[in-house]
Amino acid sequence: MSEPDPPERLQKVLARAGLGSRRTCEDLIVAGRVRVDGKVATLGDRVAADAASVEVDGVPIAIDPTLVHYLLNKPPGVVTTASDTHGRPTVLGLVPAEPLVHPVGRLDLDTEGLLLLTNDGALTHRLTHPSFAVDKEYLAEVSGSPSRGAVRSLREGIELDDGLTAPATVALVERNVLRIVIHEGRNRQVRRMCAAVGHPVVRLVRTRIGPIRDADLRPGVWRELTQTELRALEQAATGSGAAAGLHPGPNDP
Ligand code: URA
Repeated sequence: MSEPDPPERLQKVLARAGLGSRRTCEDLIVAGRVRVDGKVATLGDRVAADAASVEVDGVPIAIDPTLVHYLLNKPPGVVTTASDTHGRPTVLGLVPAEPLVHPVGRLDLDTEGLLLLTNDGALTHRLTHPSFAVDKEYLAEVSGSPSRGAVRSLREGIELDDGLTAPATVALVERNVLRIVIHEGRNRQVRRMCAAVGHPVVRLVRTRIGPIRDADLRPGVWRELTQTELRALEQAATGSGAAAGLHPGPNDP
């Protein structure tokens, strides 16, 4: 077992987590906006970054420096599991081996696009828990050209073999391309929804996870989330996602 982190001044820990300069973080503490393990913090408090749970304005903050949060553009033909019995390439083969991370949710073998991988179990739990589940946006190239009625059905809910889908945001952006935003995470949901209205998916790309987008990330490439993105994601996963704006933080590149 590794030694626990020695306690550090709270403002130092907050500043490292991207909340602003130490001075700004002191102001947050003095204003009573910071809680440590559920209690309002005061100036002078010290925390062990690997043990304490810290919230600013009710939003959990990832303060543990050993936590990593990667955004990967998953190419088709790569499986979203740790190992594959058929020897196919896995998403874990596309990110650093250490520290060990896990994918947040999954994309089908042939689905492309954004996937988060992290060793942050608390964030993973919140992101995948149905009551907090954040919006996910997909571009679905389908066969044929969906009618207005088909688009309306996709919006209002489709009866699948595991029940009715929740209302979704759906737009026809090209004659055979749908933009679909869902917050449920059922198995092969978008593919099954499109097939149910007579337009099977030809190509499926996830283009957004909550507030996180990156049209410039090339297939097979990963990067770390910025502190600003991480905070926006944490906020989205507390259920107040609509308010999570992406304004650059002082520590962001
Ligand atoms: N819906 C699907 O059908 N497949 C995915 O990979 C993700 C969402």
